[in-house]
Amino acid sequence: MSVIKIEDVSKLFGFGDAATVALDEVSVTIEKGEFLAIMGPSGSGKTTLMNMIGLLDRPTYGQFMLDEKDVSKMRVNKRAKLRRDNIGFIFQSFHMLPKLSVLENVALPLAYKGVSQTKRLKRASAVLEQVGLSDREYFYPHQLSGGQMQRAAIARALVNSPSIIIADEPTGNLDTESTRVVMELLSEIHSMGNTILMVTHNPILTRYASRIIYMRDGSIVYDEASDVGQLPGRVERALQAVRTSREEERIAGVSDYLKAMPQKKSPKRTTTKNKKRHSAKRRTKS
Ligand SMILES: Nc1ncnc2c1ncn2[C@@H]1O[C@H](COP(=O)(O)OP(=O)(O)O)[C@@H](O)[C@H]1O
Ligand SMILES: [Mg+2]
Repeated sequence: MSVIKIEDVSKLFGFGDAATVALDEVSVTIEKGEFLAIMGPSGSGKTTLMNMIGLLDRPTYGQFMLDEKDVSKMRVNKRAKLRRDNIGFIFQSFHMLPKLSVLENVALPLAYKGVSQTKRLKRASAVLEQVGLSDREYFYPHQLSGGQMQRAAIARALVNSPSIIIADEPTGNLDTESTRVVMELLSEIHSMGNTILMVTHNPILTRYASRIIYMRDGSIVYDEASDVGQLPGRVERALQAVRTSREEERIAGVSDYLKAMPQKKSPKRTTTKNKKRHSAKRRTKS
């Protein structure tokens, strides 16, 4: 069963000549239990797509089905409830409330759901144990390292037992070791049957994914399935092409290489509407 089905979705910011086309007739179907890595240069529409799927934003055009229900035109309250019950978010910058303890931060999503305080804290404590932070429950966010903070944020994303986890550059602020810990954790969550969508700039991390999509200028330019534990073919070829021992240079080089790789899809039909929108984008960029 497809958990997510997006058809010809476009997202425009602004109006008329000043409009930016953040998503340009994107279609994608995601099955339950997939682990998607989403790559692409900055400004290519990755966050916009994640916000759309996470029900934080609506498409300007097109249809979006979540669990086979059309959510594109659903009312605000219903969307909020659906989001709360089904989706967990993890961001690059953690988004922890500084005046609440780690335990309270993790329990917060349950408060919006009307769960009693005792039950909230018990559940929060259980997920903190799952991410290996039992001994940090009563710490405040500023007392945690970046890696611990992201693990706490993952616990918060899991507290509602969502079926979809959306992680927008979850390791963007982390060192190599914390990145590994966070990725192992996401991998474990994936192996329990959850669907994970992860935006990343680090091609090496696509190894954890079962599918990689690459975005450019608001479109998905390629989409490749790959076995978990293996690098997708394109990333593998890019890695072989970029030979440098320095980790950061290698990641940047591989990203550039991927960017330059030709797209597989046939050029999409250009409708009048489309042409108009493309010229709107060019104008904003110049
Ligand atoms: N709230 C917004 N208002 C106006 N433009 C936006 C907004 N959010 C994103 N954009 C524009 O949409 C495009 C895609 O942005 P985004 O989805 O954030 O890209 P990415 O996450 O791939 O870096 C960019 O050109 C960006 O400037
Ligand atoms: Mg982004």
